[in-house]
Formats: sequence, C-alpha cells, structure tokens
Amino acid sequence: MNLTKKLSLASLLFVSSAVMAHGPVTPQSIDTSTIPAIGEEWVDENPYRELAGDVKAEIDRVGASAYNQNCARCHGLDAISGGIAPDLRELPADYDGDEWYIYRVQNGAVRNGAVYMPKMTEHLNQEALWAIRSWIETRAEQM
Ligand code: HEC
Repeated sequence: MNLTKKLSLASLLFVSSAVMAHGPVTPQSIDTSTIPAIGEEWVDENPYRELAGDVKAEIDRVGASAYNQNCARCHGLDAISGGIAPDLRELPADYDGDEWYIYRVQNGAVRNGAVYMPKMTEHLNQEALWAIRSWIETRAEQM
C-alpha cells in the first residue's frame, strides 16, 4: 500500500470512530434497575439531587452512560456542547431548571415538522432522565 492510500485509510478510520464516539442514532433504552425507582407519574423536581454516597455515585454512573448514548451526539461529549444544541450544564440546578428540563425531554423540539430533538420520554424512563440531569449537574459544578 502506498503512503497516500495508507493516509486516506487512516483518516477514514478516524472519521468512523469519531462518529461512533457520538453514540448510536436511535435512542437507547437504559437499565435503571440499580437506582432508586420513582414511578410512572412525573415528579416536578430532580428527586436525586440531594442524595449522596454510593447511591448517588451509581445514579451518576447510569446518568453518564445514558447521556452518552442518547444526548451526547447533539449536546456534546462529556456534556460540553460543541454548538449544535444548548450546553445543558448551563441549566440551573433548581426548580426552574427542572421545569424547563422536563418540558424539553417530554416535548422534544419540533418546528414545522422538523425534529431538532426527539421526545425523550418516548425512549427513556423517568429514572434514566433524572439520572442524566443529576450527572449533568455534577459536570456543571466542575465548570
Ligand atoms: C437530535 C439532537 C438532540 C438530541 C439527541 C438531544 N437533544 Fe436536547 N436539544 C436539541 C436541540 C436542537 C435543542 C434546542 C431546541 C430549541 O431551543 O429549539 C435541545 C434542547 C434541550 C434542552 C433545553 C436546553 C435549554 O437550555 O434550553 C434540554 C433540557 C435538552 N435538550 C435535553 C436533552 C436530553 C436530556 C437529551 C438526551 C436524553 C437530549 N436533549 C437529546 C437537540 C437534541
């Protein structure tokens, strides 16, 4: 193989692994059996925010994984926005922030029939979505 071919093959491999790093395109369901159950009825505030210790560590682990599989491709790896969609670390970790978070994950963002963000509650349960929010809040603290 000549050098040019090698180089273009290398860049191809680089591109495809970069795409994979942003996670699959279809939303992935998440196993939330290891974190506290919340139930079907949506609560209006992040129920995991005040937790600590091992329980909180597991919530953040599940949240990070769920985020990377379902949100990172638009909102950025490690919750750092690359500009395609808002940086979620900037959403305040309080009641108002929760209200807006719930609105968006339930309704997505659809304008003139174009889906800018899918309705995440169709793919993820409440536990997974609050775990994501809790993990993002820990990322915001490190900003
Ligand atoms: C296909 C791309 C895409 C995916 C995947 C996606 N989002 Fe979004 N999201 C957007 C866009 C675009 C906006 C901005 C919508 C607007 O302002 O009209 C947005 C807005 C939001 C907002 C409001 C932020 C603000 O500051 O106004 C929240 C909260 C949010 N997304 C959460 C999530 C979560 C949680 C996930 C994963 C479970 C996710 N999104 C997955 C594209 C996406």
